[in-house]
Amino acid sequence: MNTTEVAIIGAGPAGLTLSHLLHLQGVESVVFEGRSRTEVESTVRAGILEQGTLDLMRRTGVGERMDREADIDEGIDISVAGNRTRIALTELTGHHVAVYPQHEYLIDFIARRLADGGTILFNTTVDSVSGFEEPLAANAGMGEYPVTVDYTDESGNSATLKAKYVIAADGSASPYRTLISDTAGGARHRHEYPYAWFGVLVNAPKTQKELIYATHPEGFALISTRSDSVQRYYVQCDPDDTVEMWSDDRIWDALHTRADTPDLTMSEGDIFDKSVLRFRSAVTEPMQLGRLFLAGDAAHTVPPTGAKGLNLAVADVAQLAPGLVKALRGDVSHLESYTDLVLPRIWRGQHFSYWMSSMLHEAPNGTAFESNRRMAELTAVLESEAGRRYLAEQYVGLDIPNHEV
Ligand code: PHB
Repeated sequence: MNTTEVAIIGAGPAGLTLSHLLHLQGVESVVFEGRSRTEVESTVRAGILEQGTLDLMRRTGVGERMDREADIDEGIDISVAGNRTRIALTELTGHHVAVYPQHEYLIDFIARRLADGGTILFNTTVDSVSGFEEPLAANAGMGEYPVTVDYTDESGNSATLKAKYVIAADGSASPYRTLISDTAGGARHRHEYPYAWFGVLVNAPKTQKELIYATHPEGFALISTRSDSVQRYYVQCDPDDTVEMWSDDRIWDALHTRADTPDLTMSEGDIFDKSVLRFRSAVTEPMQLGRLFLAGDAAHTVPPTGAKGLNLAVADVAQLAPGLVKALRGDVSHLESYTDLVLPRIWRGQHFSYWMSSMLHEAPNGTAFESNRRMAELTAVLESEAGRRYLAEQYVGLDIPNHEV
């Protein structure tokens, strides 16, 4: 029978970062991933790393390529019907962010785990997990392997792994999250939004180095980037829109109308990817049940506007890793408090993502009162140095303390 100390379901930012942090503390884990390595390393998702995430990469030895290749951004622009205001992140907070796409982050962590002899089982489905329900006890994790993970490996063979703890880091559709929120007395707090983003990837030079968040009577647009030759643009759309409803001409029209300013025109090129991104906010609590712990999107989802998703996942596991290490040495107090330790930051991330979303998007069918109030809020924030600093502080995010034990 194969054994490991920690079984981790999902090779996303939460799962891989956790596996790496545990390894640095002498704890071994096995990561299960349903998709292939190629798919994990090429699926384009989020793009912004907060200062705390960058610092964690650097101090744990995974920051070298990021430091060489990422664009460090010291500001963002907010454009209101063609008038741009720069939020000088670094001047206002002393911190910066980096444009470093999520799949690049994953490429670096996968390479590092494999170089360190770690086990990541790609193309492998977890069929069932059992034996985790017992409350954590003082001798938790000492000699036994109470958790059983039954899985189907990449050749289609059934196998079993025994572990001391199991972590669900398997994204927003996690069945383990549902288990906690729907059947084990937990809760899931949700918010829906009346808008979504239509996202495109474009072969084009950068419009400008720093991101532009544009709001306009016709809707929101975001000018982001992936590299010198690939740009990431979004326009506000209806949550029920389909890819077929957005011709290239319609996309360029919307982008130019919403985001061009007298001194700046969006750079155009071949659109080679189109997708609709739904907006949802959700938090599951508690984020633990016995020896099962949720991390990242498996527990909480934010709309993309504040670019907080990956960063919250990393902050979760920065708390979970030392909790697991201590528990394996016989002290479960940190692990018992995991939910309480991570929830305040998660709610702050929820608040910021909700605030940025609602301040920058015109709600379809909104009243004139709502629309005018929204514009007043936005101009009040942009015209005040205190307002710009508040926005900047939230945008660059909180530090991720070094919880190493
Ligand atoms: C992105 O580049 O995908 C991106 C950037 C900033 C956001 C959201 C998404 O706020």
